[in-house]
Amino acid sequence: MPKKSERPNHYFTAHPKSKAKLGIVRTYLCGRPFEFLTASGVFSKKRVDLGTRVLIESMVLPEKGYVLDVGCGYGAVGIVAASSNPNLRVVMVDVNERAVWLAKQNVQRNSVTNAEVRSGHLYEPIKGLTFNCVLSNPPVSAGIETVKAIIVEAPKHMANRARFEMVVKSKIGGKRLKMVLEEVFGSTEILARKSGYRVFISEKQ
Ligand SMILES: C[S@@+](CC[C@H](N)C(=O)[O-])C[C@H]1O[C@@H](n2cnc3c(N)ncnc32)[C@H](O)[C@@H]1O
Repeated sequence: MPKKSERPNHYFTAHPKSKAKLGIVRTYLCGRPFEFLTASGVFSKKRVDLGTRVLIESMVLPEKGYVLDVGCGYGAVGIVAASSNPNLRVVMVDVNERAVWLAKQNVQRNSVTNAEVRSGHLYEPIKGLTFNCVLSNPPVSAGIETVKAIIVEAPKHMANRARFEMVVKSKIGGKRLKMVLEEVFGSTEILARKSGYRVFISEKQ
């Protein structure tokens, strides 16, 4: 049996084998209209996921500087962040090449000029950059070790006083991830709590 990450049709596989069936998701986020091209083989093809929405509606963004969306999927989080403030420079990263292609399409489709999409594993594509905010709706299905790595490796890529914001489903590892956040950042707070999701926020000291 291949490892979960090697199975071809998971949304977190690097090279989805299934034929890409395209779709369009039109929705309002933070009171503004967005349109996303989506496809089979990526996370939440039919609608913006509820956890994604809870993160987007509660995220606290810096007034300027670099924002990272790690595990961007087709790009909802990073695109809403970028379109909220032209003084931000948003970088979006995903391991799934189909998600990266869609996110690039969606940057253009939503007329966003201050975001770019990079392909690769976790923080590898952004080596050398320092962020003022890191956002993530993590790939829980890929396993706890991947989610932990997103938290543990984040501070190396963050400026002092930069914020880390992550949405998690309370029932799926919520308590455990809270402990990891406390270990890594010293403390964490709940920024939002809705429909079984929590958004945690921590600051790099
Ligand atoms: C829960 S989805 C969230 C997608 C998007 N942010 C959203 O909220 O719609 C997690 C994303 O992480 C990506 N991912 C999984 N493992 C990854 C890794 N090792 N490096 C980068 N991205 C990864 C998946 O491909 C997936 O798109």
